[in-house]
Amino acid sequence: MHPRREQWKRLREVGDFRPCRPADTDLWLKQDSGSGVLTMTKTVIDPGVMASVVELACRAPSVHNSQPWHWVAEGGELRLFFEPHRVPHATDLTGREAAISCGAVLDHLVVAAAAAGWQANIARFPNPNDLDHLATVNFSPMPFITEAVRARADAIVRRRTDRLPFAVPSAFSAFEPVLRSTVDAEKATLAVLPESVRPQLAEASRLTESLRRYDSSYHAELQWWTAPFEASDGIPYSALASDSELDRVDIARKFPTGDNPDQRPEVDRDHSVIMVLSTYEDSRRAALGCGEVLSDVLLEATMAGLATCTLSHMTELEDSRNLIRGLTGGSGYPQLLIRIGEVPPSRDQPPPTPRRPLSDVLDSRDATRVGRR
Ligand SMILES: Cc1cc2nc3c(=O)[nH]c(=O)nc-3n(C[C@H](O)[C@H](O)[C@H](O)COP(=O)(O)O)c2cc1C
Repeated sequence: MHPRREQWKRLREVGDFRPCRPADTDLWLKQDSGSGVLTMTKTVIDPGVMASVVELACRAPSVHNSQPWHWVAEGGELRLFFEPHRVPHATDLTGREAAISCGAVLDHLVVAAAAAGWQANIARFPNPNDLDHLATVNFSPMPFITEAVRARADAIVRRRTDRLPFAVPSAFSAFEPVLRSTVDAEKATLAVLPESVRPQLAEASRLTESLRRYDSSYHAELQWWTAPFEASDGIPYSALASDSELDRVDIARKFPTGDNPDQRPEVDRDHSVIMVLSTYEDSRRAALGCGEVLSDVLLEATMAGLATCTLSHMTELEDSRNLIRGLTGGSGYPQLLIRIGEVPPSRDQPPPTPRRPLSDVLDSRDATRVGRR
């Protein structure tokens, strides 16, 4: 069993991820044994549980696996910060995709906390003078943990970005209404593109790559984030597609190719359904919300047994972004595309991509200090 999955299982066994006591409040009356005085106390999440919740949340996807986030735990609260120095700027000029990544980790945190019996209450951008302070989260005990909540947290562990060709998602028409019922339409709109526009999408994908052919900073950055020497971030070769696999996927960012043997030969070409997530404005707040919706879509798809691949290369350049906007009806700001499909069940799942150690991403200010900031 994978170590993280084992840790997750252990947490559930030891009762950290316990069914909560029936309660509709997190305030309790406590009597002092000496004086007999009654005081009101607030139940707070245990720091160990909070650390496990953060660790699970950090399985969230991020642009180039850059993990541009930092957490501070203090007084039973968590603060989420944007890490500007981790933004891959030649790809993500304005840090928009890094903010989307932070939105994904925030939504993953909500899911992980719920499975541990805690409702995450979020204040987004609580400090107008510091837009890198993305959110402050406090927790209140939940009366009950449903199986669906547990299944969603399990999906965090199972989810991968899959860059190989997908078979047709046969049950998509049943999946789409379920997905739409979970997505927060105030944060982002979700468009499912018809198969008829696939040639135009493939054209936009090729156009993006051509426009960047001589952009050496972009290519140097891709090399950097896919170089095999980093153990805690970036995209390992095992997660990249080989040349012949890429030949069968018409809508993809061209990473330096991995040297994997040709996988999934039974899928002749990519038959995925393509979705576009767009926002109503192009601000950091909108990007954060879009990331929350991205997390929602990816986890919901994973729970339904579908494979996913997030794509952002076509929204990084104005020409191809305009083309995508046209295909989605001409309004809003396209942020991401997601390929969704089925993969043959016989195949082993690729190993998970690495993550930064918890001591690097979480600064616990209550007990032992483990981080920076
Ligand atoms: C904002 C954002 C943009 C991304 N863009 C792409 C992309 O253009 N192409 C791609 O193959 N993967 C893309 N990804 C997927 C990341 O590379 C992936 O999440 C990361 O490598 C971690 O791997 P995992 O998702 O398997 O955990 C993107 C993810 C995010 C959150």
